[in-house]
Amino acid sequence: MREIAAAMTAMGVVLMMAAATGCKKLPPPTPLDQLTAQQTHGYEVYQAHCASCHNDRTNDPLNGQSLRGIFKKQYLTSGAPANDDRVMNAIIVGRPMMPALGGDMTPQEREDLLAYMHTL
Ligand code: HEC
Repeated sequence: MREIAAAMTAMGVVLMMAAATGCKKLPPPTPLDQLTAQQTHGYEVYQAHCASCHNDRTNDPLNGQSLRGIFKKQYLTSGAPANDDRVMNAIIVGRPMMPALGGDMTPQEREDLLAYMHTL
């Protein structure tokens, strides 16, 4: 019994550490060859408009933070909830150090982009 209790405690500590370190333990992005047509189009939009500043498939920051696992986390870097509305808002109006990019894309392209970002 004591061994089981100790194992459970150790497991709890590991889980807490995983939660604290965040992105390192997130499930990996969907492989590119398994994306739907819409997600694949969103990937192209991402390459054209976001990839110069944000990595999508690794955790390393570029000009901005990595967006890998963006919708698998509860919060964005700013502390705003990680949901479609807030991410779309960042795309359309920009952030303090990020240009507003909404006007560079059609509404459909923005939707496809979000669909892709949900696979990260
Ligand atoms: C010129 C560089 C640049 C480009 C291009 C860029 N970003 Fe950013 N982005 C940043 C920087 C820098 C930050 C973090 C600092 C800040 O909030 O201004 C950021 C922050 C963000 C955030 C976090 C917002 C928050 O509330 O924490 C999201 C989401 C985001 N970018 C998405 C995108 C998407 C999607 C694209 C492509 C459409 C994109 N960015 C293109 C530089 C860029």
